[in-house]
Amino acid sequence: MPMFTTATGWVLETARSGYALGFNQAGLLTHRYWGPRLPHPDDYPSPPNPPGWASFNNPAQLTPEEFPGVEDLKFTEPCLKLSFADGVRNVVLRFDAAAVSEGETPELQLTMRDTVYPLLATLHYRVHTAYDLIERWVTLTNEGDTPITLERVFSAQWHLPPGDDYRLTHVTGRWLDEMHLRHERLDLGCKVLESRRLTTSHHHNPWFALDRGQANEDEGEVWFGALAWSGNWKIAAEVTDFNSTRVSIGLNDWDFAWQLKPGESFSTPACVAGYSRAGFGGASRLLHDYVRNVVLPHGQQPHKVLYNSWEATTFDVNTSGQIALAEVAAAMGVELFVLDDGWFHGRNNDTAALGDWWPDAVKFPDGLTPLIARVNALGMEFGLWVEPEMVNANSDLYRAHPDWVLHYPTRPRTEARNQLILNLARPDVQDHLIEKLDRLLRENNIAFIKWDMNRNVSEAGWPAAPGEQRELWVRYVEGVYRVWGTLRQRHPRVVWQSCSGGGGRADLGILRFADQIWVSDNTEPNARLGIQEGFSYIFPANTMEAWVTDMGADYLPLSFRFHVSMCGALGVGGHLLRWSESQRAEAAHWIARYKAIRPLVQQGDLYRLRSPQTHAFSAVQYMAKDKSAGVLFAFRTHLPLPSQLPPLCPRGLDPEARYEIEGVEGVRSGAGWMYGGISVELGDFDSTMRMVRRV
Ligand code: DGJ
Repeated sequence: MPMFTTATGWVLETARSGYALGFNQAGLLTHRYWGPRLPHPDDYPSPPNPPGWASFNNPAQLTPEEFPGVEDLKFTEPCLKLSFADGVRNVVLRFDAAAVSEGETPELQLTMRDTVYPLLATLHYRVHTAYDLIERWVTLTNEGDTPITLERVFSAQWHLPPGDDYRLTHVTGRWLDEMHLRHERLDLGCKVLESRRLTTSHHHNPWFALDRGQANEDEGEVWFGALAWSGNWKIAAEVTDFNSTRVSIGLNDWDFAWQLKPGESFSTPACVAGYSRAGFGGASRLLHDYVRNVVLPHGQQPHKVLYNSWEATTFDVNTSGQIALAEVAAAMGVELFVLDDGWFHGRNNDTAALGDWWPDAVKFPDGLTPLIARVNALGMEFGLWVEPEMVNANSDLYRAHPDWVLHYPTRPRTEARNQLILNLARPDVQDHLIEKLDRLLRENNIAFIKWDMNRNVSEAGWPAAPGEQRELWVRYVEGVYRVWGTLRQRHPRVVWQSCSGGGGRADLGILRFADQIWVSDNTEPNARLGIQEGFSYIFPANTMEAWVTDMGADYLPLSFRFHVSMCGALGVGGHLLRWSESQRAEAAHWIARYKAIRPLVQQGDLYRLRSPQTHAFSAVQYMAKDKSAGVLFAFRTHLPLPSQLPPLCPRGLDPEARYEIEGVEGVRSGAGWMYGGISVELGDFDSTMRMVRRV
């Protein structure tokens, strides 16, 4: 039974965790507990009723609230901040009703009303039992007859057990350099992570993990969460003056305002959060399973080995040149051929053509059909690149609709990569894109689309907005979701990839539409090891598109470059016409081996054995869910001599079962391998792939 109503509130239970909340004597919705699942519903603590501290802190300041508004003498981060029409800016929510719905994902809905104003807040708690996750979001409804201006609406505030010091883990980076793990002790005050870039961003990701500073990859308590949103977001990790740690997460309130008109509702994006006692590895595996089984459109479908010609030909594409590459790719065992940028009307470099989404008549005089037909005849599917949200000033679309871009009429329009951003908050822009992309998909046999976005926002103006311009931040993202969702509905078999100059739009919101993420434009394999590791804290390997390109070719063996990419959804992006026969034969060998291990990598459990972000000798392992087989990859970059590599201890084996590991003599129990480890001899810039088999 995953949900209980008790005298003191509600208990939400997952397979291994418990979460309790309830109204305290002051009528505040308080957090009671988040940790290991307890034997009995009465075991969970009662709602706290802390005393205040002098005349400067009323009890409310010390009360851990689930969804705090602005009221009383309380100065910690609120989840809700607004203005009523008469200028009152306090919001005082109290219990109205509770409803519980059972089923596979039971849901608790708590409705709360402002004590004076006709504002209804519905707090949703959905329990994802198998994944130890609670999903939360909030709906606000204006039941009055004057508008309410929303200024902040977070999705949730998550509270940690009080009294301890916590360490925050998050990822940070830049274009070409995403997903660096950061671990920092939280101290008094507020640590803010955010995006103000209109999209998720390369710089931070709406994901957090907290522990007491002792959790490691395999053991220890970790509380973690992620926001399903692809626009401006904010995480505020706060330690109060009374040593209470909480994480508020949701839409960024920076430059945000929303007119909630009479009778209207506003819903936040969802945030999922979980608790694991199995360290950071355990937390990642829970998120991976959730993403694969619940979030992704085709979560169980194996991803094909693709070839993408971008790094080989950039904008210089045409039918015969692409066919030449396709023929080599097919002979190597590639299953999906992707034509990237450069194929559409007038696109010869990055100064023109974005917006004009039909084949360039010079490069493709008979359209894309001859290329697609040849690709299909070679036994491969065909994929195409688009960047729907963007327009170049030098394009037919911009000449026809200069008012369709984000801009302020009085200011110059800042270009980045020579492009401007179409205002996807506008329904007419959304409809235009749906029509153009739908036609492309109807007229061509396209199995895969890479959706790119190559700049961030500058002038966030929407002069023709029907109401409050600052709704743009949310309406734009909803517009992206509407375009993408409509196309997905009309073409359900198409697999989409989310790219934003690499990993600029990687989040659980976009993964409801896209099955894959282009993790980084950096395809240099050493750098890639670290980027892939950071990515793996949040996302499963089947979402991680990874190409073998020519980056690193002059100092890394092809086997190393393949091994790195085989840790995700394998792709190839090198200039195949320049590869020798023996390189192509070796590539064919690794592609065939990848196909054999694909179910393990894409659907298995991930174990990070040694971190490439902190060690020059690193390893990662994937195990089948039934523990019958696995595959282990180890990499050595540069280690000064003398160096002795430590043994690698595989993980996730059945301790009692007997296993053999490729390259090591003998059969041992799972426990024997996991605790005894294996020795791996590697020179600098060397790697190995080892199969693990139950015998
Ligand atoms: C940025 C992407 O990340 C690249 O892979 C490539 O698609 C280029 N855009 C094309 O302009």
